[in-house]
Amino acid sequence: MLLAGFVFGFALQIPAALAQDFPTLLNVTSPLTLAIQPACGPLNSGHAAEINTGINLSATRTIVAFGDSWTSNGANGTVPVPPVMWPPSPSAGSRVTSNRRASNGFVWVEDLANSLGAKLLNYAWGGAVIDNFAWNTTSPLNQTAVQRTDFVAETRLFLLQGKFLDPLVPSQTLYTVAFGINDEGQFEIAGGNWTLAYETYVTKLGELQANGAKNILIHGMYKSHPNTDVLQDKIFAYLRESHLVNGTAIAYVHLERLFSAIASNPGPFGYRGNATCLVSATTTAGGCSDADHSVFWIPGHPYILLRRRTD
Ligand SMILES: *[C@@H]1O[C@H](CO)[C@@H](O)[C@H](O)[C@H]1NC(C)=O
Ligand SMILES: *[C@@H]1O[C@H](CO)[C@@H](O)[C@H](O)[C@H]1NC(C)=O
Ligand SMILES: *[C@@H]1O[C@H](CO)[C@@H](O)[C@H](O)[C@H]1NC(C)=O
Ligand SMILES: *[C@@H]1O[C@H](CO)[C@@H](O)[C@H](O)[C@H]1NC(C)=O
Ligand SMILES: *[C@@H]1O[C@H](CO)[C@@H](O)[C@H](O)[C@H]1NC(C)=O
Ligand SMILES: *[C@@H]1O[C@H](CO)[C@@H](O)[C@H](O)[C@H]1NC(C)=O
Ligand SMILES: *[C@@H]1O[C@H](CO)[C@@H](O)[C@H](O)[C@H]1NC(C)=O
Ligand SMILES: *[C@@H]1O[C@H](CO)[C@@H](O)[C@H](O)[C@H]1NC(C)=O
Repeated sequence: MLLAGFVFGFALQIPAALAQDFPTLLNVTSPLTLAIQPACGPLNSGHAAEINTGINLSATRTIVAFGDSWTSNGANGTVPVPPVMWPPSPSAGSRVTSNRRASNGFVWVEDLANSLGAKLLNYAWGGAVIDNFAWNTTSPLNQTAVQRTDFVAETRLFLLQGKFLDPLVPSQTLYTVAFGINDEGQFEIAGGNWTLAYETYVTKLGELQANGAKNILIHGMYKSHPNTDVLQDKIFAYLRESHLVNGTAIAYVHLERLFSAIASNPGPFGYRGNATCLVSATTTAGGCSDADHSVFWIPGHPYILLRRRTD
């Protein structure tokens, strides 16, 4: 909820009285506070900057999400399993299938959809990269490869079935996209081609626009890497063109600034330190007993401000 506030706080508050199509499922209380506000950059910034050129949350009835485990609720374009916990699994969702979240509650885009009473079509999937062909470890051209889901496959699935799931009225539909950390991870293992990753990224954004996307939110990574910083700056430049050329309403969320602020001074946010709660991604055993006050839940999955109590 607070992340949703951070996402849009710079230009838009979550409207108090929305005609909710979909009810919020849980009564959640949180000990956390958003101790810094977003700092908007100009549209002509050379670096990816926090900005919202006019996405109207009051009008948003549908969210279409692409990304990796940061965003995935295990639905993969279908109906999600509610965020039920099955201890000692740390992942809210199904007990017996992979349809889980890397979180002990809703993930950020579900919180956003719940806040707005909007329908969510979520194509994000754990481990996803931008383009399997871009990395030596995942390229189908390289027979040593283990392919992952990518933005290409997620977009293909959405364009195939999304129109049957929702009217996708352009002025009422928000598209969210968040990739990068798995691309960096695969690149670090065996190299690859960032130019291709960038070109695929904007090609897919262009396809979404050609199919009616008029509101696009990009979620920047929570920490800096030289390669992904360059990628994000180039994506930001593309978004600027999208706004100027196509009239697309764009928003960019730069989480690095928020996470840097938390890491340097967690107290004002309500955190007691900024440690990871769990010791492993597969079990809650040995984890902290005070999840609501630590920044990370599953290692590498900083679901700050998004977590639910597990007791
Ligand atoms: C939500 O929980 C809080 C704290 O337990 C309680 O005070 C409040 O009445 C609850 N709200 C609803 C709508 O149930
Ligand atoms: C935002 O959407 C709401 C609901 O459709 C509408 O009443 C309002 O006029 C819109 N605001 C702007 C600035 O377009
Ligand atoms: C295939 O991938 C492996 C790493 O998984 C890498 O060592 C190798 O160089 C790659 N080969 C080609 C032709 O890209
Ligand atoms: C999830 O969707 C992707 C397309 O984005 C597809 O390649 C993959 O097989 C699906 N995975 C599961 C488990 O359904
Ligand atoms: C990655 O693959 C490219 C070909 O796509 C190859 O030129 C390069 O040597 C590979 N890098 C590594 C580290 O294997
Ligand atoms: C990287 O991808 C771009 C875009 O497809 C291509 O033009 C370029 O030749 C590729 N570079 C290498 C080293 O394969
Ligand atoms: C503008 O929209 C078209 C589809 O209508 C798309 O192909 C193109 O990539 C978009 N350009 C920018 C800069 O957003
Ligand atoms: C927060 O975590 C980071 C990364 O582990 C560490 O460098 C930093 O010192 C921590 N900050 C505080 C205030 O504990």
